[in-house]
Amino acid sequence: MSILFEPVTINAMEVANRFVRSATGGGRADQGRVTDQHIKLFSELADGGIGLIITGLACVHPDGRISPTHLCAYSDDFAAGLKKIADGVHGRGGKIALQLFCGGRESATFLKTENRQAKGVSLVDKDPYFTGHYASMTEDDIREIIRAFGDAARRAQQAGLDAVQLHGAHAYLLAQFLSPFTNRRKDDWGGCLENRLRLHREILKDIRSKVGGKYPVFIKLGVQDGFEGGLEFNEGLQAAKLLAQYGYDALEISQGLRGAEYEGTEFRTRINSIDREGYFRNWCREVKNHVDVPVMMVGGLRDIALMEEVIQNKEADFVSLCRPFIRQPGLVNEWKQGNRLRPSCISCNRCLVALKKREQTRCVQEEIEAKGPGPALRA
Ligand SMILES: Cc1cc2nc3c(=O)[nH]c(=O)nc-3n(C[C@H](O)[C@H](O)[C@H](O)COP(=O)(O)O)c2cc1C
Repeated sequence: MSILFEPVTINAMEVANRFVRSATGGGRADQGRVTDQHIKLFSELADGGIGLIITGLACVHPDGRISPTHLCAYSDDFAAGLKKIADGVHGRGGKIALQLFCGGRESATFLKTENRQAKGVSLVDKDPYFTGHYASMTEDDIREIIRAFGDAARRAQQAGLDAVQLHGAHAYLLAQFLSPFTNRRKDDWGGCLENRLRLHREILKDIRSKVGGKYPVFIKLGVQDGFEGGLEFNEGLQAAKLLAQYGYDALEISQGLRGAEYEGTEFRTRINSIDREGYFRNWCREVKNHVDVPVMMVGGLRDIALMEEVIQNKEADFVSLCRPFIRQPGLVNEWKQGNRLRPSCISCNRCLVALKKREQTRCVQEEIEAKGPGPALRA
């Protein structure tokens, strides 16, 4: 049996194999609420044999939303829906974590539609990567967000989800605090690395006070920004070490703020050769060498032999995939049965374009292929 099918534990949670479904926004929520489409999706993923499924974004505070179609967890009203997701996955022997998130300044476009202003860590003059309007957070705003993360984690636990993952990557609030490019604060929340990680630390304390010590709390961490002048890897690595020391139970290693599309982002395209695969592998390996909590590698993993190598070489404890499971939720079971097929995902990001248009996330490429060549081509 491949090493990919050995179990691993994250705090008190045993995960049956090394496969993680990396958080994937599904565009399926109705004003933040769980719909039948979620139950169907997560049940399919659990049936497909994935060890740990991470939901898409679930927002902890109304001011942190970026769309009406992602999940929310900022009030007890959302708990019944979350419980249905957990029950569906558990009924199929799977495990599921809720991804907790707050958009910070990335919420500007969505909140504008409600005539409200977003809040981010601090204002940045002449930012080529961000043009929205937002306010700098006050001390009270920060304290409110800390409590909101803690309350959302408590709801996830009460609803029966197996773990929570904080979103500390991809330009959202926690990444904004960590990056020296967006965090220009002169108070205790800015400046040195420990200060830029104070929010991460305080959130973990608040969560622990509400869920206890055994509930798995982990983080997706952006260890480098996608452009020069942002967070650099040497600091990102120090951040990973500090977060493990603070008590985060596992780390998924990704990118921080986004640069140019798509090469400066977390979802790179053209994963058409082995060299293009595992594009955050070097960062992940380095982090794994320096921490003693489980580490997840994400970003362009496709080839089963490469994933085995990563686990065998102790470059990561988990391999985490997003786009391939959109098209083939049953891939892991195929691999378990010895069919070492390469995923048919071509990493074209048409799934992402659909999500941005507020359609359901799905493999649009598969739909195009199913239609076959158009009339001109057929002739
Ligand atoms: C359609 C789509 C939605 C995504 N939604 C999320 C999300 O909600 N949270 C998150 O942390 N990452 C999200 N990601 C990023 C993925 O989790 C993953 O980090 C990235 O796609 C690289 O992995 P892959 O090459 O296996 O797709 C999303 C990516 C795509 C393509």
